[in-house]
Amino acid sequence: MNRRNFLLGTGALVAAGGAFAWATSPNDFGVDTSQRVALKMPPLLDTRESRKLELTAQEGETSFFENAASKTIGFNQNYLGPTIKVKNGPLGAKVSNQLQTPVTVHWHGLLVPGEHDGGPHLPIAFGNNWQPDMQIQQSPATAFYHTHIHGRTASDVYAGLAGIIHVDDGRDDDRGIPNSYGVDDLTLLIQDRRFTDSGHLSYNLSMMDAMHGFTADTVLVNGQANTRAVVPKGIVRLRLINGSNARIYTFSADDNRPLHLIATDGGFLQEPKPIQELRLSPGERAELLVDFGNGESMTMLSSGDPNSGPGGMMGRVRGMLDLVVSRSFVVLPFVVDDRMPTRFNALPDRLNGDEPDLEGEEIVATRQISLDMNTGSSGMMGGGMMSNMGINGRSFDMSRMDLGVGLGTVEKWVVSTSMLAHPFHVHGVAFQVLNENSGEPKPESIGWKDTVVVDGVTELLVKFNMPASRDNPFMYHCHILEHEDRGMMGQFTVA
Ligand code: C2O
Ligand code: CU
Ligand code: CU
Repeated sequence: MNRRNFLLGTGALVAAGGAFAWATSPNDFGVDTSQRVALKMPPLLDTRESRKLELTAQEGETSFFENAASKTIGFNQNYLGPTIKVKNGPLGAKVSNQLQTPVTVHWHGLLVPGEHDGGPHLPIAFGNNWQPDMQIQQSPATAFYHTHIHGRTASDVYAGLAGIIHVDDGRDDDRGIPNSYGVDDLTLLIQDRRFTDSGHLSYNLSMMDAMHGFTADTVLVNGQANTRAVVPKGIVRLRLINGSNARIYTFSADDNRPLHLIATDGGFLQEPKPIQELRLSPGERAELLVDFGNGESMTMLSSGDPNSGPGGMMGRVRGMLDLVVSRSFVVLPFVVDDRMPTRFNALPDRLNGDEPDLEGEEIVATRQISLDMNTGSSGMMGGGMMSNMGINGRSFDMSRMDLGVGLGTVEKWVVSTSMLAHPFHVHGVAFQVLNENSGEPKPESIGWKDTVVVDGVTELLVKFNMPASRDNPFMYHCHILEHEDRGMMGQFTVA
């Protein structure tokens, strides 16, 4: 099936120029799952016994559509990287670079010191390697890894330099939650990508894309287009990772069955929380339990990106959001196969995760962090398209330290945005979302977080437990990668 047939094959209205197949109601999609290929999991790289992790950034070719090989990059493979399973204790990593351009590996969601964090100050040149001797010490969680070279994070992640980490404590059976990789525990790295008419991957960044962030009309799951997941008749765990450059998804089930939220970025909640919709911005992770016990298939949908849609950014007013988000599209159909082994038939009552509790602690500082679409200054890179965004009026500068915080202290960060919703991410910490636009946090913001959508004003309590020096500071930034590359990023020390 070529790309054109794929789009037409959805049986829904296809807008000119290959936009998403919008439908007025989810039932209009008429997804023909037999026309879709079985979803694959990324290969598993289990470090729990070996305590060793080897990654190599390499070039390759990937055929997302038939007869259309695209140039891609990946870790240990052609596109994306393996799913890395780690447990607490020592982890000796070795990251090698076979690409002509520098890469880093940032462990997004691992709580490690600045020197192990893989931020923009830790580039690995062509032919070189980086060997951080890490200590993993945190609650079980789903984390993310990706390259983080300033100015080329967006294009390199787009081309494939990203993957998933499971922090595992071996106690999921006790919790009563599925944990067989790719059977009842599915890792779903969601990315939107553009393809040319011939089916080749394209990153043709226009001025508009640079402003809004690069969104696209084809959804890939684990690097595959047009897939379906086959699941057992019982409880299934979905680990959702938004690895898109800019798109904010709002996931739901087409039959409106509840999605039971069990974990956010930093790990498990105290108990499963039934939700109808899950908003997930770039860099965020969430884990859901979904009950397939009735044997019925389900299609996971997403509504539209609040940052795009009619009128675009300049025409975006809050009242219009409803209109934009009603435009749903298919993310992934799930089909039940009752020959598959079912290990869990009921939801657990409790997970006993440690939810955030920083309210009782002394707050040593309150900081205003404003994410600015236009700083007015031209920054280090000579102005133009690549450098006019910033934080608190300043575009990112590798040689300027923006903040210094105290090791072990708690601060309140008041993060604000205008015009667009921005996913705000902080390295080396897990934070508590105190309120969103002065209201209660959304359900998906209640657990420990390291990335959160800010659309107005969001207040965070942040505890700094990991040290970071001037040479290897932590970053805080918008996780719309085009914004980050254009300077919507700052850096801080923890000492
Ligand atoms: Cu996932 Cu600083 O990034
Ligand atoms: Cu990060
Ligand atoms: Cu942004």
